[in-house]
Amino acid sequence: MKCKGLLIVMPFLAAALSFSGCTQEKAEPVRVGTIADGEMNPANWGKVYPLEYDSWTKTKDPRPVGKTKYKNDFDAKNTHYDKLSEFPYMPLLFNGWGFGVEYNEPRGHHYMVIDQLEVDGSRLKAGGACLTCKTPFSDKLRQELGASYFADPYHDVHARIPEEFRQLGAACMDCHDNKTMAPKLSRWTLAKALKEIGKNPDTITRQEGRTLVCAQCHVTYVIPKNPEMKSTDVFFPWQGSKEGDISIENIIKVVRGNPAHEEWKQSVTGFKVGFIRHPEYEFFSRNSVHWNAGAACADCHMPYTRVGVSKISDHNVMGPLKNDMKACMQCHTETAEWLSNQVFAIQDRTLSLMNRAGYAEAVTAKLFEIAHKAQADGKELDSGLYARAKDLYLDALYRVIFIGAENSVGFHNPSEAGRICGDAVAMAQKSEALLRQALAKEGVDIPSDINLEMAKYLNERGTRKLKFRPELEFVDPFGTQEKLTPASSLGKERGK
Ligand code: HEC
Ligand code: HEC
Ligand code: HEC
Ligand code: HEC
Repeated sequence: MKCKGLLIVMPFLAAALSFSGCTQEKAEPVRVGTIADGEMNPANWGKVYPLEYDSWTKTKDPRPVGKTKYKNDFDAKNTHYDKLSEFPYMPLLFNGWGFGVEYNEPRGHHYMVIDQLEVDGSRLKAGGACLTCKTPFSDKLRQELGASYFADPYHDVHARIPEEFRQLGAACMDCHDNKTMAPKLSRWTLAKALKEIGKNPDTITRQEGRTLVCAQCHVTYVIPKNPEMKSTDVFFPWQGSKEGDISIENIIKVVRGNPAHEEWKQSVTGFKVGFIRHPEYEFFSRNSVHWNAGAACADCHMPYTRVGVSKISDHNVMGPLKNDMKACMQCHTETAEWLSNQVFAIQDRTLSLMNRAGYAEAVTAKLFEIAHKAQADGKELDSGLYARAKDLYLDALYRVIFIGAENSVGFHNPSEAGRICGDAVAMAQKSEALLRQALAKEGVDIPSDINLEMAKYLNERGTRKLKFRPELEFVDPFGTQEKLTPASSLGKERGK
């Protein structure tokens, strides 16, 4: 821990740090053996480190309901929270591929492969590539299968994992060196990406490792496609970025306009676009207060915890609110209540901006639909106006996807969240204005309020549509949309 740095940046934390932060010695493992090279089975690592193993298995346990405001996974009735019901502009924007069909809130690490096996098949079309940040066998499979690891159907590649490990998610060997137990990176994807941003993956410090082991998976990635739309690789779009400065702008530069990186076609507009997934590392590391203070992902998600006479890093990785802010209180002297109120205040602000951006973008998407109909009916839209409108629309779209996919609802980097959402609102609205001008020039009559038909997109998600949650407040920042009363309520219960 960077105690000196912390004391300088935040004098009022000094008292707290001298009692908890700085005396917060590294947990000392109770070691009762050695782990063989190449050992994959967590149970065998567990024979040497029983306490960490035991807490790791708890990622299977249900999470407390109601302690977090926005990051519940299941409710008390065991129904999975899904983003498409929480944010009804998403099914509209994502209509055209898997993320518009099923897009759930994350749950414990135990479920990462299990949830993939249960998710709507449309989400697995990319093939074996999807296993890359899920199974500890991904690197082995890639070496054995070569190109077909990425391109072959998901279930064919999955079936090559030894049977007893087919449901195994993040395992000890994913994050640890078997000899020293120091944090270790196991994925070629991150090793390559770190080189792109000028970092040597083989010489990372322990504190860097406490973040980078998570960055093996909690990052955005691209699954490039060949002309037959078969997956050819998995990589992180960090080219042209630097450590601490992987911006949405740079990510867009890599993804946009390269046909191999544009993985899907948005139904409403017919545009081919890329996607952005859970960019926790990129977002957090871009000059956030806690990044600058030297805090790591593990500081907030794996707090030191006492088990009997020993102290260990809590391997039941979860959000700090669900764990009564224990992680925060390693560094902060304030009460848990004060700290969670700070989180909620940041998240409320972020969500309000995020919804504003999402609905502004949805309005513009529907306007493109109208514009394309007009073109099909023989109207010649001003190509300059149309091109500028499309450019701004796509710029806004990537920002809307980014902030909706980042898992902290703004907390990891509040000012960056504000910047990204603010830009997205401005771009989406400017795009709308340009498109309206192009349509008006051709005499196409457009109502001032565009009907988003959100209920249609929410309901028409195939057979796996999830329960609509009337208790989730539907926020329409423009106050112009129909009330949502989707017919569906199939519900998706927690798998046993
Ligand atoms: C091998 C990939 C992988 C690694 C490594 C990884 N994660 Fe995850 N993490 C996931 C996936 C996938 C999920 C969602 C699982 C699901 O919903 O089925 C997840 C879920 C989570 C959650 C939500 C848990 C809950 O109870 O809702 C948190 C918090 C989290 N990860 C933090 C971390 C932190 C911190 C690290 C590093 C110490 C880390 N993860 C390392 C893939 C990974
Ligand atoms: C300063 C503390 C802090 C740091 C550092 C931090 N997080 Fe978080 N994280 C939070 C908080 C607070 C939330 C919001 C939890 C909530 O609303 O329930 C969160 C949410 C998450 C979630 C969603 C949890 C859920 O329940 O669904 C994931 C995943 C996650 N963080 C991963 C990471 C990763 C990966 C890193 C490092 C790149 C990181 N976090 C760094 C505090 C932190
Ligand atoms: C998602 C990544 C991740 C996984 C999976 C994981 N660990 Fe860890 N583990 C960490 C991090 C991060 C630390 C803190 C490392 C540090 O500060 O040096 C840690 C620390 C430890 C330590 C040092 C003592 C302590 O508690 O801080 C032991 C021992 C350990 N883990 C054992 C295990 C075992 C056994 C497994 C599998 C059952 C496992 N870990 C799975 C990330 C992980
Ligand atoms: C590793 C130590 C550490 C942990 C863990 C930590 N913080 Fe902090 N936090 C800091 C430091 C240091 C600052 C002040 C940096 C500064 O003022 O320049 C800070 C600042 C803040 C601020 C003010 C932010 C701002 O924009 O000025 C809030 C709010 C906050 N933390 C909440 C939390 C919450 C909630 C958690 C748990 C989820 C948490 N912190 C976990 C060290 C930590």
